[in-house]
Amino acid sequence: MLGNFSYKNATKLYFGENALQFLNDELPKYGDTVQLIYGGGSIKKNGVYDEVTAILKANGKRIVEDGGVMPNPTVQKLREGVNLARENGVSLLLAVGGGSCCDYAKAISVSVNCDEDPWDKYYMRFEEPTCEIVPVGCILTMAGTGSEMNAGAVITNHEMKLKIGHVFGEEVMPKFSILNPRYTMTLPKRQMTAGIYDIFNHICEQYFSGEDDNVSDDLAEALMKSVIRNSLVAVEDPENYEARSNIMWAATWALNTLISRGKTTDWMVHMLGQAAGAYTDATHGLTLAAVSLPYYRHILPYGLQKFVRFAVNVWGVRPEGKSDMEIANEGLAALADWMKQIGVAVTLTDLGATETMIEGIADGTIILKGGYKTLTRAEVVQILKASL
Ligand code: NZQ
Ligand code: ZN
Repeated sequence: MLGNFSYKNATKLYFGENALQFLNDELPKYGDTVQLIYGGGSIKKNGVYDEVTAILKANGKRIVEDGGVMPNPTVQKLREGVNLARENGVSLLLAVGGGSCCDYAKAISVSVNCDEDPWDKYYMRFEEPTCEIVPVGCILTMAGTGSEMNAGAVITNHEMKLKIGHVFGEEVMPKFSILNPRYTMTLPKRQMTAGIYDIFNHICEQYFSGEDDNVSDDLAEALMKSVIRNSLVAVEDPENYEARSNIMWAATWALNTLISRGKTTDWMVHMLGQAAGAYTDATHGLTLAAVSLPYYRHILPYGLQKFVRFAVNVWGVRPEGKSDMEIANEGLAALADWMKQIGVAVTLTDLGATETMIEGIADGTIILKGGYKTLTRAEVVQILKASL
């Protein structure tokens, strides 16, 4: 059955090879001073920086440079970005990059006009913004997180060994996002496939959860099949526009709140993966890949019918003459095979985690309700050990 919900998505999207020209339509709405947020330099190498700054200049904007946003943006960088925005009276935060830049921009947006420390307010006390929010726009160069059309912002605190996401309200969603699949083609293959696994797992997180067998689950299966089909093409032929554009659009729909409507979700793969990420600083999608199968094997008995449905509808497992447990396990085996095919079959050990970190990672794992089984701390430790 479908639970009760409201739905609004506040982000305007421009998609396709010519999408950047629509920045000209958006810029006049947002004042004179643009904080140009980007990462470690990929946009300077592939020409996106030049294209974007030319449009900003043509629109008479003052550009406040804010480069060097690292993957898994840190709280130190966030505090610097907030100060930069304050000192310059920034009127638009324009993120050009992957989820890290988009998340970082959103975290700045709710902190510029607020006296309290953003980490304490949003990531320790999980408060909602009480100050004026600076508008955010995104120009996406990596498909994966869905940050371009949601209100999530994940920040890492290395001192505290915590990586935490705050999902804000619709007022924090980017006002607009520009998605040109061509921009994703300069991604190293490892980043492309990590992003693909992130997309797939976002769909799984919402699919394997309470309030089963509704229209959100039907949409989720269609998205999963599309990601699987297009990922196999993109891995063989990364320049394939058809595949890359389908992946980029699926990423947006995987986490723009639509397929979680009417469902309860616990996001436990992300809770485990993010806690591991705080210790290893590993690529987000790969941390999810490392913990997924041990987690799904663990919860399979509690959500058996859904794992049967997953096996048959997503992976084409033939059910005749098999027990539910056999069918469900064949589905997970098919998932494991696909992960090998696209090159994301990794362990936490591969990502730099060690046995001695397990207790700390377990401490950093936020245990949420809403899935098939609310984990105990002992189960978290068991799953993490099985992921090494
Ligand atoms: O920094 P640059 O030089 O730009 O390089 C980046 C970075 O090294 C590179 N890259 C991006 N686009 C490229 C490119 N390299 C060449 N060509 C391009 N076109 O890719 C690397 C990774 O970028 P990053 O933005 O970190 O990746 P992603 O999009 O996966 O974002 C990860 C962050 O998002 C959070 C993660 O936890 C992590 O902190 N998430 C945000 C979510 C949300 N807002 O809803 C949900 C997700 O589950 C996730 O937790
Ligand atoms: Zn994710």
